[in-house]
Amino acid sequence: MSDMELPDDIQTKLKGLHCSLCNVNIPNRPSLDEHLKGRKHKTLSNVRATRKAAEEHSVFVKGFKKGTSQDDLAEYFQKFGSVSDVIMDKDKGVYAIVQFSELDGTQAALAQLDHQMQGLMLRVNPREKKDFKLIPKKKFDPQNLQDVLERLQPRLCQALSVNEQMQIVMEQSELRENEKQARDLVIELLQEVLIEFFPDCKILPFGSSVNTFGIHGCDLDLLLDLENTKVFQARSKSTTEQAGQGTSDDCRSEDSILSDIDLSTASPADVLDLVARILMKCVPGVHKVQVVSSARLPVIKFHHRELNLQGDITINNRLAVRNTRFLQLCSGMEARLGPLVYSIRLWAKQRQLAGNPSGAGPLLNNYALSLLVIFFLQNCDPPVLLTVDQLKDMACEEEECIIEGWNCTFPSQPFAVPPSKNSQDLCSLLPAFFSFYAHFNFPDSVISLREGHVLPITSYLSQNEEKEGEEEAMQEERPTKSQHPSPKLGPLNLLDPFELSHNVAGNLNERARLNFQKECQEAHNYCRSLQYQQRSTKGKPWGLVRLITPHQGPKHKTQEGPGDKGLIITLPFRAALLPDGLRNQLPLAGDSLNLMWFHKVCSSIKGLFLNILKCNPLLPTDPVFGEHSGTSTGTNDEVMEMSSSDLNTSALNSSSEHNTSANNGDDGIGSSSECSPQVKVGVKRRLSSLSSEASVSPQEKKSRVGKGPKSDAPTWAWLQRHTVWAGRRKVRRLLLKGADSKPEGTNVELETQVTEHILEKEPELKEPLAFKVQARIMGRSEGTRAVLKFSPTNDKDGHFQDFYHFLEIFLPKMVETLMEPCV
Ligand code: UTP
Repeated sequence: MSDMELPDDIQTKLKGLHCSLCNVNIPNRPSLDEHLKGRKHKTLSNVRATRKAAEEHSVFVKGFKKGTSQDDLAEYFQKFGSVSDVIMDKDKGVYAIVQFSELDGTQAALAQLDHQMQGLMLRVNPREKKDFKLIPKKKFDPQNLQDVLERLQPRLCQALSVNEQMQIVMEQSELRENEKQARDLVIELLQEVLIEFFPDCKILPFGSSVNTFGIHGCDLDLLLDLENTKVFQARSKSTTEQAGQGTSDDCRSEDSILSDIDLSTASPADVLDLVARILMKCVPGVHKVQVVSSARLPVIKFHHRELNLQGDITINNRLAVRNTRFLQLCSGMEARLGPLVYSIRLWAKQRQLAGNPSGAGPLLNNYALSLLVIFFLQNCDPPVLLTVDQLKDMACEEEECIIEGWNCTFPSQPFAVPPSKNSQDLCSLLPAFFSFYAHFNFPDSVISLREGHVLPITSYLSQNEEKEGEEEAMQEERPTKSQHPSPKLGPLNLLDPFELSHNVAGNLNERARLNFQKECQEAHNYCRSLQYQQRSTKGKPWGLVRLITPHQGPKHKTQEGPGDKGLIITLPFRAALLPDGLRNQLPLAGDSLNLMWFHKVCSSIKGLFLNILKCNPLLPTDPVFGEHSGTSTGTNDEVMEMSSSDLNTSALNSSSEHNTSANNGDDGIGSSSECSPQVKVGVKRRLSSLSSEASVSPQEKKSRVGKGPKSDAPTWAWLQRHTVWAGRRKVRRLLLKGADSKPEGTNVELETQVTEHILEKEPELKEPLAFKVQARIMGRSEGTRAVLKFSPTNDKDGHFQDFYHFLEIFLPKMVETLMEPCV
């Protein structure tokens, strides 16, 4: 067959042929014949021919009276030829398709221009010719959780109880045997290849593939353990040195890949680069290999083509393997944990609260969510799960485990732990979880699974200082022990149960925390309704189903733009950012230090907008200034100039009283719980003079407070003419000549240069963006926070949301950086 002779449906492609009717590729000419004679092609050809004939044999009719029947139409059109069928649009009765047995009938009907029926003029037209297209059915993908849940819904609706629903959800979401085998296969494959290059290395799985909470299609987290390889390398090095150049023991050649790198000194990124090259070149099926060195723990991401598996490889991450073991132990100890975690993970995923696949952004990761469930179970009455410290005490000597200086001891087998006395069923534990976190005082708390209760931020900080002191002392005795940094505190503080310097929810911003609590509240409200508690006899969604399916009806309130309460960024109090002298006095100083901290925050915010982001301050007389809110406005020169005598703590105290329940999720400015710091605007000394305040004792300050005149909280109004929020990373890299080693918001000079670059290179916005920022201090003592409310006053081109999202991440980091030099 030459090209000319190819049937209409067949096109030649670069590689082989393509049948547009069946939408399949055909590798070569010999297969074409087979395809054309095949069942699929024949059936589709026949269907198409029948449809085409039906189209040609029929006319499209409109304009008849409502209530006209098929028989009426058949009778009318009979005069043009034998009518074989009349298809009517039954719902509306506005059109019909009249089909003739012979083509002549169609032509005769179309040839007549004037058709009248029951006194009405009919419009008779040829049928529209539609291309026949095969619409492929959506295939069910058993690895896709959404597909699985859709299929599952009828079964869940039929279940007899919420308990049963939760069990079904777990059974149907968890990894199947074949999926586990596929994972084992990849591990074996990697192990086989990598051991050739890194003698004695081990590949160890951790995370959802093995922690008993894995769901279809979850990624495969792996640790490449090079500890033994390091030993091997050191040993072979010394042998080689002793024996002169050549080969080492074990007959492994000196020119192996290990001679390129010294594992004892190489950075994780260098090691991962090397491993990535090996993966790309030597592991069959592995592709899309990428090293992400900017992550907290640098990682190699890869994909296995045939097994359709996404994998991550890290090194130096033995704590993750151990905490995975801990999750396995918890599941083994408590059968209710699995169904709860699965149900809550699905709920959080549907509500976009957790499970960001890239691990970036302000969402909770699944590990953090599992820890929140465990912490809740530790706090039930009586507890469902024991604390990590209690578990540690139950372990025997052989089970003792210290990793990187952290105590990771717990029993290896669940039967070593006595069963819980709590007998609540899943149906009541789920609402209790939502209620627990809906009312949780996040701003004032650090969650500790080790101790099984929250630690007030104050005692946590002082405890940390004590620990640091102890560690310093121990360091002198044992110089090898590393000193652990303090965790990064934020809107949600959830300490890793072992690596106590790591806040596993440290990536969350205030908005995400608020969303989490609002969704918990909403879920709790739903759980109190009959729809949760009573099975629908009509098979409608009830119980768990509504919690794990996407929101129906109007857009969910918490997913709206944050317009209902304004756009808010909250900066939690950081004692660490106060000068040393003052920080030590914290327990005595009362609220004046918090005010001082707030003033410093405000000063930094002003510096950020003015100097780093190059915004222009607006005056109330500017047309785009916006409605005057009644608060005094800090313009360029007056904002945040203040005297220590203006630190009016009586105002703070009174407002703190309003605000005793800092955890009511009500951080909105303008609400009844709002408090104003009574910051004096535009007077006396500049804030920079606060550093000299370090020499003033807090008692002295206390005696001075209350004397200063009252004033309003600062409000700034700014104008921005450039998209200073867009493409910063690229510019940063450019300025650093390719190496983007400085995390965003950690270098004042660099960020200023980035803005200047954008100002210089990017065109001005057609319509400049104008916005207001209102600052308030809220909460008490260590729960104090600065709450910033943003509102656009001129945003005709709709840039403000983008700018705000950029600020959500950038501003807290930058403020911290700006405050640091003053310490
Ligand atoms: P994930 O958050 O990815 O959890 O962390 P997951 O259970 O594997 O869920 P998927 O992959 O989203 O389905 C993976 C593992 O990384 C370690 C934990 O061992 C966790 O099980 N990890 C994660 C930490 O040790 N610390 C963290 O802050 C986050």
